[in-house]
Amino acid sequence: MIGIDLGTTNSLICVFEDGAPRLLTNALGHLLTPSVVSLDGDKVLVGEAARDRQTTHPKDTAAAFKRAMGTDTTFQLGRKKLRAEELSSLVLRKLKDDAEAALGQTIRDVVVSVPAYFNQGQRQATIAACAMAGLNAVRLVNEPTAAALAYGLQDRDGESQFLVFDLGGGTFDVTVLEHFDGVMEVKASSGDAFLGGEDFSEALAKAMADKIGTPWAKLAKDAQHQLRLQADVAKRHLSGKDDFEARLKLDGAHHTLTLTRADFEQACAALIKRLHRPIERCFYDTGLDTDALDRVILVGGATRMPMIRQMVARQFKRLPEMTIDPDHAVALGAAVQAALVAEDRALDDVVMTDVSPFSVGIETATKLKNGTVIGGFFQPIIERNTPLPASRQDSFGTMDDNQTQLRVDIYQGEAPKVSDNVHLGQFLLDVPKGKAGHEGMFVRITYDPSGLIEVEATSITDGKKAGLVIRDNVSNLTEAEIAKRLKQMQAFKMHPREDEENTAFLARIRRLYEMASGDDRHLLQGMLMEFEGALEGQDPAEISRMRGDMGETLDRIDDYYVS
Ligand SMILES: Nc1ncnc2c1ncn2[C@@H]1O[C@H](COP(=O)(O)OP(=O)(O)OP(=O)(O)O)[C@@H](O)[C@H]1O
Ligand SMILES: [Mg+2]
Repeated sequence: MIGIDLGTTNSLICVFEDGAPRLLTNALGHLLTPSVVSLDGDKVLVGEAARDRQTTHPKDTAAAFKRAMGTDTTFQLGRKKLRAEELSSLVLRKLKDDAEAALGQTIRDVVVSVPAYFNQGQRQATIAACAMAGLNAVRLVNEPTAAALAYGLQDRDGESQFLVFDLGGGTFDVTVLEHFDGVMEVKASSGDAFLGGEDFSEALAKAMADKIGTPWAKLAKDAQHQLRLQADVAKRHLSGKDDFEARLKLDGAHHTLTLTRADFEQACAALIKRLHRPIERCFYDTGLDTDALDRVILVGGATRMPMIRQMVARQFKRLPEMTIDPDHAVALGAAVQAALVAEDRALDDVVMTDVSPFSVGIETATKLKNGTVIGGFFQPIIERNTPLPASRQDSFGTMDDNQTQLRVDIYQGEAPKVSDNVHLGQFLLDVPKGKAGHEGMFVRITYDPSGLIEVEATSITDGKKAGLVIRDNVSNLTEAEIAKRLKQMQAFKMHPREDEENTAFLARIRRLYEMASGDDRHLLQGMLMEFEGALEGQDPAEISRMRGDMGETLDRIDDYYVS
């Protein structure tokens, strides 16, 4: 009886035994395994080592692929191209391997959690990912339902309406649930696919750049990445205390900044505002009153920030519950559901809302003052998570004088550039000649619950129309394709578990090397050589002693640059 939380940022695996769920640790002894995959030659790394390689080997590393589940988007890792299902299957395989080592037995049947707004295609993709990892998904559970199960809400009488507020690494989901007679019904689900803890880190990183006196936009990509990592650490400290001293190195110069929680909260004011809209939409859609809620539950690592708790308390005029660690609740609940499945008492978990699983919009371009055209931008018209049926329109102008046609290119997805989204179709609309920007069109997109997408463009001045009807092309692999890919995935060799501490240790030295400078770099270089030498020596006691000794120095360096 195993439950899995396959998250965008972190994943967890949990067993249900002796009447209670228990989270299992990975090969490094941690409960959270970052959902990051990196290829190192012919070996696959998943988890912390892979996350450190995002800094040192970005071209061989993929993260946040959960967003692309059920689409044909592929991720390039070195010379390999992998789909989201395949990358997810590697994360699942890692969780499985580690859990098997912890439990001393093989695992096959699992319950996996998925966001409530996942449509059939995205659910199928999750099941396929399990199959490719040698797991049998006996059931999927909606993430908010799992969180409710972790809190034991199914056992309470007289309480029926719950709100689950989930702010993870990259996504925000708010869900209203109703429990009645063994059925958990998702009444409304709304959210923002591009709002999560990482955005709070970025806001703090920008504030840090301002304090140093270098505007964020002027920083090189590398420097931005470093600052973001440092802001992430500062952010976590500021969840527990009022101020924090950050020492950091940027473009060769050292800086010491005192960051206060108030500074941080000020830098995040716009993000906090963005959290309100989906909440309002959720209540508007259901016609529910916030007073009718029996309980409000916080889930997701980012709800550890006091400003989030305050915002929720203010919005719902009550203290939200967070007695269970917010990063653990979904996995614990998935294991509870697994136990209920095994006893044939599984909670029926139905989704009543139909929401658009992806954003749908069109490609836009702009012309800079010097005449250069930059295109390929995605302009969503119907945003992800909009309750269906929905019909929205937007207007677009011509770019050149006397332009006679406008091209409408329709895409679905969540990436800002259309090249990273899925192309759904294209058509042209004739418009009268005129000055650039004086002519234009309205584009209306209508999306119905059966997955039919209708796009209609109307010329603003003469009313001429053109359009297209598309079927939502959530793309799923066929049984035959899954079987074929299963073989291919089995050919990927996981990094040996017994080496994992060493691999993660090396990845950490390399990441710090990129961050450090001067003497510290020399020191790290020396450590790298010494440690590689010890690895060649193959004396486990010596290797482990060295990790212990060097670990302290690494902590100091990490601390120096990041804290
Ligand atoms: N103490 C803390 N203070 C502030 N933020 C934190 C803290 N601990 C974790 N976080 C943030 O929580 C986020 C990760 O949350 P979580 O593990 O719940 O995400 P996830 O479920 O994998 O992602 P998603 O919900 O987007 O699928 C990260 O942005 C991390 O920085
Ligand atoms: Mg989550």
